Amino acid sequence: MKGKQAEIICIFGKRGSGKSYLAKQMVKGLGRCVVVDPKREYRGGQVVSHPLELYRAIRGKQSFTAIYRPPYGVDVREHFPWLCKTALHVGNLWFVVDELPKCVDMRKSPREWDELVNEGRHALVRIVAMAQRPQRVSRDLTENANKLYVFRTNEPRTLKYYGDFMDASAIEKVRTLPDHTPFLWAD
Ligand SMILES: Nc1ncnc2c1ncn2[C@@H]1O[C@H](COP(=O)(O)OP(=O)(O)O)[C@@H](O)[C@H]1O
Ligand SMILES: [Mg+2]
Repeated sequence: MKGKQAEIICIFGKRGSGKSYLAKQMVKGLGRCVVVDPKREYRGGQVVSHPLELYRAIRGKQSFTAIYRPPYGVDVREHFPWLCKTALHVGNLWFVVDELPKCVDMRKSPREWDELVNEGRHALVRIVAMAQRPQRVSRDLTENANKLYVFRTNEPRTLKYYGDFMDASAIEKVRTLPDHTPFLWAD
């Protein structure tokens, strides 16, 4: 993970572990925030269902919580690049992505998302991204992250992934965490 300039938080844990719950707590305290909500579960913001609608909801505003949900029949992947572009254009906001693997295909992630991950800090775009396993997101993201919230896992491949940067005592903690309790790894 890289230095302090990065503003990227990743949350990893299997289904039901408490990722969205944690993100919902975080979102409450964020003044300027866009949530990408594929499972239609976030509350407490203006719900939008198109990138243009998102743009109208947040441009020129001092503070906002906008919750993007894909319209029925539309794949989030279709709108996601435009959501990224809008976030980068407006700037100075939190971009919270629930179920990232539903939003981008890791093997050919859209240029707009890569740009947000790699250059977003210049526009003060901070990212919170969630996934069940770290292997399901790009190294670009985890290497740029400065905080990881990790829920309990005993999955060898996932532990091996964490082992690339966590020491043995951290790994032991991750293996034995109580339910709904994240382990915070920060650089
Ligand atoms: N810290 C917590 N305290 C109480 N309930 C929690 C906590 N974290 C998660 N839950 C509950 O557990 C269930 C699954 O959590 P959720 O955040 O949806 O998991 P995930 O997003 O990882 O699939 C939800 O019903 C949620 O309310
Ligand atoms: Mg969830």
